[in-house]
Amino acid sequence: MSTPPIKPLATRERLSEVRYEIRGELARRARDLEAQGRKLIKLNIGNPGAFGFRAPEHLQHAITGDIDHTDPYTHQQGLPAAREAVAAAYLRRGTPNAHPDRVFMGNGVSELIDLSLRALLNPGDEVLVPSPDYPLWSAATILNDGRPVYYRCDPENDFLPDPVEIETLVSSRTRAIVLINPNNPTGATYPRELLERIVAVAAKHKLLLLVDEIYDQVLYDEAKFQAVAPLAGDVPCLTFSGLSKVHRACGWRVGWAVLSGDGEAVGNFHHAMDLLGALRLCANVPGQYAVEAAVSGPDTISALCAPGGRLYETRRAVIEACAASEHLELVAPAGALYAFPAVVGAAAKGFDDHDFALELMETEGVLVVPGSSFNVPYRNHFRVTLLPEAETMREVFARIDRVLTRRAEAVNKVVPITASKAKSRPAAA
Ligand SMILES: Cc1ncc(COP(=O)(O)O)c(C=O)c1O
Repeated sequence: MSTPPIKPLATRERLSEVRYEIRGELARRARDLEAQGRKLIKLNIGNPGAFGFRAPEHLQHAITGDIDHTDPYTHQQGLPAAREAVAAAYLRRGTPNAHPDRVFMGNGVSELIDLSLRALLNPGDEVLVPSPDYPLWSAATILNDGRPVYYRCDPENDFLPDPVEIETLVSSRTRAIVLINPNNPTGATYPRELLERIVAVAAKHKLLLLVDEIYDQVLYDEAKFQAVAPLAGDVPCLTFSGLSKVHRACGWRVGWAVLSGDGEAVGNFHHAMDLLGALRLCANVPGQYAVEAAVSGPDTISALCAPGGRLYETRRAVIEACAASEHLELVAPAGALYAFPAVVGAAAKGFDDHDFALELMETEGVLVVPGSSFNVPYRNHFRVTLLPEAETMREVFARIDRVLTRRAEAVNKVVPITASKAKSRPAAA
């Protein structure tokens, strides 16, 4: 008896619209190279623990001290003590009606982004998403049957959004505006007046504000952080943050979302979030025991972001390297853990960010993320994380400059770069 031919399992069609290059094809190629013994400097993920950072000790103690209590499931919205601590912290910073009932704990902000869009969207609904974005926002919109509609945060405008453009993009299908502040990948922080104008657009068109503030205390120089919820008042707003970045505990997978706005307006959405939370039972419990210590304990991030602090000095190394390079331009990041430089001049002729990233990795052993992975229409940017030591970053930018100088020289000799381009992309691993 002959066996029937094997038919590959079909998967969700809309996955073809989703990209996550931060851990995508280039990262897989990096793993192959490492398996062959190559040493790479990998700057693709904002993962503090991978660069030698530790979660603050008082957070570690909070988990270990309570480990005996972490066996059972918690309430679907999270551990009451964690939610009370988050509600109190958000009340202190002016979030209207912050209350433990309106706090949702999740397995990282990532899970809560997905959950909130699942709670909100019907097929064909639109979400206004920044370009560039943190690509999970686009992916979660698409996978919950929505459509991301991009508003531009262009380098010419210091990567700030334009509220007038945002309003022109509102349609009868628009349900929400996503704000990422401080921003990944650009490091932009949004001034209060700009946020007030975006809140006014949300109020006028009855949209939910989805505000990703996971980098809210990662600020450099004179940058000020302005939370959106206090400006939004009665306008429905869901604010996201967690332990991954400010508290350097990505692996603990702890995030929270705080719902604010008029009780009647947000009631159904609150129930939907609660139901979806219940279907996944609860978030990882041990990590939730560190939340109170994190939001009420000492500030451990400011010193890292101040002169002499590790993040500050690495950011300074990036700014200086870009200023010294004839091939790079940078809008200095005011917050968050990344820089998003542009390639300019002769090296930018016929430039393709993916091919550049591949060449940089193959020839110089440095992994960066191509700018187009962040849903932008241009292809001359790349993202690096600011997490390595400053010395490593100086070496990285020396290597980047070598690749760009070779490219510029090739352009100046009028050698058609496109000929080698077509051959250089490897098959996905
Ligand atoms: C803007 C932004 N939002 C959300 C996340 C996800 O964070 P978490 O580790 O809490 O899932 C990240 C991670 O890099 C991020 O940069």
